Amino acid sequence: MLLKSEGDVSIAGDVEAALREISLATPDLVLLDLVMPGRSGLDLLAELAERGVRAPVIVLTATNTVNAAVEAMKRGAADFVTKPFELEALRIKVRDRLEKRDLLEEVERLRDEVEDRQQFAGMIGRSDSMRTIFRTVERIAKAEATVLVTGESGTGKELVARAIHDHSPRADGPFVAVNCGAIPRELIESELFGHEKGAFTGATDRRTGRFETADGGTLFLDEIGELDAATQVKLLRVLQERTFERVGASRSISVDVRIVTATNRDLVEEVANGNFREDLYYRVAVVPVALPPLRERREDVRLLAQSFVSRIGPSKQLTPAALGSLEGYSWPGNVRELENAIEYGIALCEGNTIDQADLPISIGRSGQAEALREQWRQGERSFEETVTRFETDILRESLESHRWNQTQTASALGLTRRVLKLKMDKLDIEAPESPPKSGS
Ligand SMILES: Nc1ncnc2c1ncn2[C@@H]1O[C@H](COP(=O)(O)OP(=O)(O)OP(=O)(O)O)[C@@H](O)[C@H]1O
Ligand SMILES: [Mg+2]
Repeated sequence: MLLKSEGDVSIAGDVEAALREISLATPDLVLLDLVMPGRSGLDLLAELAERGVRAPVIVLTATNTVNAAVEAMKRGAADFVTKPFELEALRIKVRDRLEKRDLLEEVERLRDEVEDRQQFAGMIGRSDSMRTIFRTVERIAKAEATVLVTGESGTGKELVARAIHDHSPRADGPFVAVNCGAIPRELIESELFGHEKGAFTGATDRRTGRFETADGGTLFLDEIGELDAATQVKLLRVLQERTFERVGASRSISVDVRIVTATNRDLVEEVANGNFREDLYYRVAVVPVALPPLRERREDVRLLAQSFVSRIGPSKQLTPAALGSLEGYSWPGNVRELENAIEYGIALCEGNTIDQADLPISIGRSGQAEALREQWRQGERSFEETVTRFETDILRESLESHRWNQTQTASALGLTRRVLKLKMDKLDIEAPESPPKSGS
């Protein structure tokens, strides 16, 4: 009666009746007396857990059974009320719990949204590893810590650096990128820290360095593994003291800059080999973000490919065979190579479909098995056809690589020459008119 104003109330006299009620409608909250005829309230708690009913349970208990209430809390009850109780106090507890539950549900809904997302700040991906990167980037962007982004060429290191800046409190400040590998070593110091007029031959004007330009924002030092020893020392000092001098100046300048660095080298190895200062390494690698190569997250290939198509050639479409090839390829150049392959395919294709044959040869070929499999998945080819095509492909490839010498091919494949010949006849494989001569 007390709770009628809070919502629908169902009453059950024992565990069995309670389970019946719960199977009819999942409750938002359960008020549970531990002492009931038949099985005890503790049993119901266990049953609820087993059924995945996550409604909070408030246990009602007489003062002399408080121990049982404690036991109930241990088994997952949310709260307890000792009898006799103030009606109003119970009502408040109930309301409180329901509100908390709403909040928790909201948090979970938001979390799901985050988990479900397939892109973040221009980065696309649905693999677990990329989703983890999205979360990490979002979290570390808010902090000031120096970040080191590592990964093979084309994995998106610069994209990550920009994402960190864009999601940081410095987003309104400048994002300044310096490619340490592209600046001649005699110019790098003046590039980073600036110089006074006449500081060295050719310094006809005073020049502001990148550190100063980045004041209030983020400085992205790309390819930091390329820095020479002298510049490493200078950079270390700036990172420690946050001050530096322009080349040829005596006055110190202090700036408010967040540093993000990137490299495709293995810096730990560089440190071990004496090419990179250990103290500098620890300064830049406060928060490491390691981007996995694309071949280790093939589930991203399709998504990335389709997003590049819709950006570069929105009227075009990839055929299932082409998608299969892309998914099967090993992508030594990672996402950049994929982007280029799509651009290539769009330029080459006739009409509106990009097929396997429109992709760069290495991709079309190395992905053949995967392409076949995709066509089979899509129901475009039967099992028989798929297997036959695959067999034909590898027999042809093997024959070609042995210049159509059947004895060598057979032995490479572990077949007798007779069986090879039978297969060739069955699969309609014929040597070209004049087989290429050895050494040609
Ligand atoms: N997850 C991603 N989603 C969408 N585009 C991406 C993603 N990763 C990389 N790219 C694109 O791939 C290309 C290469 O990315 P980026 O320049 O960030 O790589 P990098 O790791 O800095 O490569 P390098 O070591 O060669 O400098 C860019 O055009 C970038 O936009
Ligand atoms: Mg880069």
